[in-house]
Amino acid sequence: MSDSETLKQAAGEHAASWVESGMVVGLGTGSTAIHAIKRIAARLYEGSLSQVVGIPTSRASEMAAMELGIQLGTLADYPVIDVTIDGADEVDGDFNLIKGGGAALLHEKVVAQASLREVIVVDAEKCSEVLGTKFAVPVEVLAFAWRPEADYLDDMGAEVRLRRNAESDPVVTDEGNWILDAMFGPIADVERLSNALDRRAAVMAHGLFLGLATDLVVAGPNGIEHRTSP
Ligand code: A5P
Repeated sequence: MSDSETLKQAAGEHAASWVESGMVVGLGTGSTAIHAIKRIAARLYEGSLSQVVGIPTSRASEMAAMELGIQLGTLADYPVIDVTIDGADEVDGDFNLIKGGGAALLHEKVVAQASLREVIVVDAEKCSEVLGTKFAVPVEVLAFAWRPEADYLDDMGAEVRLRRNAESDPVVTDEGNWILDAMFGPIADVERLSNALDRRAAVMAHGLFLGLATDLVVAGPNGIEHRTSP
């Protein structure tokens, strides 16, 4: 296993140890969150955990959880989530995030907003002084409007790419939308950018997650650091 994979596993499993019996748990998406899902499943299997209901943030996490035998629910039945464990692509010192590298940003944000506690699990490489330094902001748009939205992002100073899969077809999200990856470079005012994107009719979601994370679990070469939002 690579060093990075080991750190992802450490972060995901650490957060999974906080899940308690009877909780409704948001199941994040990606290569770090999957370790939390697997650990929750293992704890259910060994009996240290029971009566957990999982709310998946993507079709991928739904499939994984189903295969691992985690009971699943919906937001209609469980509108308040006790704790969600999810990954991120970039994290700043104010608990703001860029998410969406796995194209699940819309459901991830909905689940985060429904969660009493949003635990973000990352390896130390994801930490950044200023968001946008390391990762583009994914912007999920209605497919029919991708071009004007790309032009809008371009006018805002971003280098924009329509996300494509290995066959060069546009990546289609779980809600049938497309993704524009907007590389802004270091973002001076994340609130302002977030508000501007929120005002666009064809933007279904964007990857700036501001004020949503309550806990960060950062795994680095010297161990695991747990930070809680002030
Ligand atoms: C999914 O859409 C994303 O928000 C992921 O949570 C994020 O890209 C982190 O993924 P990894 O843990 O695979 O790096």
